Amino acid sequence: MNNRIAVVPGSFDPPTLGHLDVIRRAASLYDQLHVLVVHNPGKEAMLPIAQRLSLLEQSIAESGIEGDVVVAAWSVGLLVDYATDVGAGVLVKGIRSQVDVAYETPMAIVNRHLAHVETVFLLPDPAHALVSSSLVRQVASLGGDVSPFVPGPVARFLDTGAQRG
Ligand code: PNS
Repeated sequence: MNNRIAVVPGSFDPPTLGHLDVIRRAASLYDQLHVLVVHNPGKEAMLPIAQRLSLLEQSIAESGIEGDVVVAAWSVGLLVDYATDVGAGVLVKGIRSQVDVAYETPMAIVNRHLAHVETVFLLPDPAHALVSSSLVRQVASLGGDVSPFVPGPVARFLDTGAQRG
């Protein structure tokens, strides 16, 4: 297992500016970063995984994030199975508040037990502290402007209404 390869996992439904901030910081810390779209069975999805993947790829490219950044999806099996497959010894999560610490801590401990994979918590820019995918989903579904909270490709996609049936 390699501590210079890290995975940033998440639902990314949709990717937000907070996600991009964490990805940028993590890309500067690790030799290789895997941004992994993971199906979260506990959440009702707005976007199909393939769409989230595409929006993440476009957003990372447009943001000028430097480094070896791989974008992938994982919908079968444990997150640590993916980490082990690619030789990553670290998972990176963004922490906005104590609520995030409480949500992430059990997952971090379980992942360490499962595969000796450590979780590193990064503090994003406080400007993004109140941004969440769930709020973006709600504002978008009610026809509000989400452009202050999401990368350009996501704002343009949601603005077309393409995600609504
Ligand atoms: O962005 P989210 O929804 O908070 O991300 C949570 C996610 C997808 C990273 C988490 O649900 C997860 O790791 N799912 C993969 C399944 C798994 O490995 N579970 C056991 C350890 S938590």
